[in-house]
This record gives sequence, structure tokens and C-alpha cells, in this order.
Amino acid sequence: MFAIPLGDGAELRPLEPWQAEEFLAHMDRGREFVGRHIGLADVTSDLDSARAWLQSYADKAAADAGRLYGIWLDGTLVGGVLFRVFDAVHGTCEAGCWLEPSAAGRGLVTRAARTIIDWAFRERGMHRVEWHASSENTASIRVAQRLGMRRDGVLRASHPYRGTRQDIEVWSVLAPEWPPPA
Ligand SMILES: CC(C)(COP(=O)(O)OP(=O)(O)OC[C@H]1O[C@@H](n2cnc3c(N)ncnc32)[C@H](O)[C@@H]1OP(=O)(O)O)[C@@H](O)C(=O)NCCC(=O)NCCS
Repeated sequence: MFAIPLGDGAELRPLEPWQAEEFLAHMDRGREFVGRHIGLADVTSDLDSARAWLQSYADKAAADAGRLYGIWLDGTLVGGVLFRVFDAVHGTCEAGCWLEPSAAGRGLVTRAARTIIDWAFRERGMHRVEWHASSENTASIRVAQRLGMRRDGVLRASHPYRGTRQDIEVWSVLAPEWPPPA
């Protein structure tokens, strides 16, 4: 399948339901790390639920309502980036990401997110790309900052997660703020 090089042996590729076993093995390696702030680790706990989650993104892609891409490092699936929401009619979407810990700290997610956001602005005519992160998720907030996003505000106690209610920060970048091609 096609792949976009991210440098340093990393590639961005489609991540689809037929890859459920590979995805589950990756999530098993990263479950504790990924699950500290987001529900992805909990909703992909076995092969059936992993396949169902991948299928939900295949369905979103078919409806042009979301997208999902994996990050492979030296041939191993180590994370991904996605559009959880993709609203081409209103020109708004929400990007997100995750990594297993062995792949963190190399800039992979920043480069992968830049690639899909570039596509959203340049090819799909999006006007606004959002990034939602728990106020405690400093690594994710640093990604939003590296992407040139601004902090719109915080949705106080808006998201129940593992027995507490998270404050969710909303960050965004607008089409006129996105840098032109290098
Ligand atoms: C959010 C998450 C993906 C961020 O991972 P990350 O490795 O910090 O992000 P990147 O891949 O962009 O790497 C950036 C880090 O690599 C460093 N880095 C090294 N080489 C780099 C390069 N060439 N370019 C950019 N950054 C580089 C950066 O300095 C940065 O580290 P720092 O934040 O300590 O300064 C990760 O913490 C994660 O998976 N968390 C669990 C899931 C989650 O919370 N997802 C977000 C949901 S909102």
C-alpha cells in the first residue's frame, strides 16, 4: 500500500480493519502509556474491539467524516494520527494522535499530524483544525504548540474518564495561519 516517508525510518500509511491483529499487538505494547489520558486503550482491549474501532474509522472515511493513519517505524506499527471529526461542509475538523512509548520523543507525531493537516487545508479546503487534549496531557499540548496552534480555551470538567472529569483544552489552527509549502 502507499506510504508517506516521515524520515528516520518512519512511514505514514492507511490503517484499516484487516490490520486488527497488528494494531492490537501495538496497543498491547503501548496500552498503559496511551491510556493515561485517552480512552483509545480501553476501547481496543481485544481483537474484536480493536477490529470494531478500526472499522468505525473505515466507515467514517467512507462517509468523509473522519480518517485514520498508522505510523510505522522500521516496519513496526508504533502509533497513529487521525481526524476524529471531519466536517467538509463547515470546513472544520479535529485531529488527534497516539504513540507507543518506544516511539515517543522523536517528533514522529508532529510530522505525521503536519502531513494530514496539510492535506486538510490544501486539498480539502478546511478552514479550522482543532486539537483537544486533557489539561494534564502536557505531551499532547506540546504537539499542538509545535503545530503552531493557539489555545482557544478550556471545556471545564467536560469529559468523564476513569472516574474523574477531565478539563479539555481546545487548540486550533486556521487556514490563513498555516505555513505555505516549503
Ligand atoms: C501525545 C503523544 C503522541 C506525544 O508524543 P511525543 O513523542 O511527545 O510527540 P512527537 O512524536 O511529536 O515528538 C515530540 C518530542 O520529540 C522531540 N523531538 C525529537 N526529535 C524531534 C524532531 N525531529 N521534531 C520534533 N520533535 C522532536 C521533541 O522535543 C518532543 O519532546 P518534548 O515534548 O519533550 O520536547 C504521546 O505522549 C502519546 O501517545 N500519549 C498518549 C496518547 C495521547 O495522550 N494522545 C493525545 C490525545 S489528545
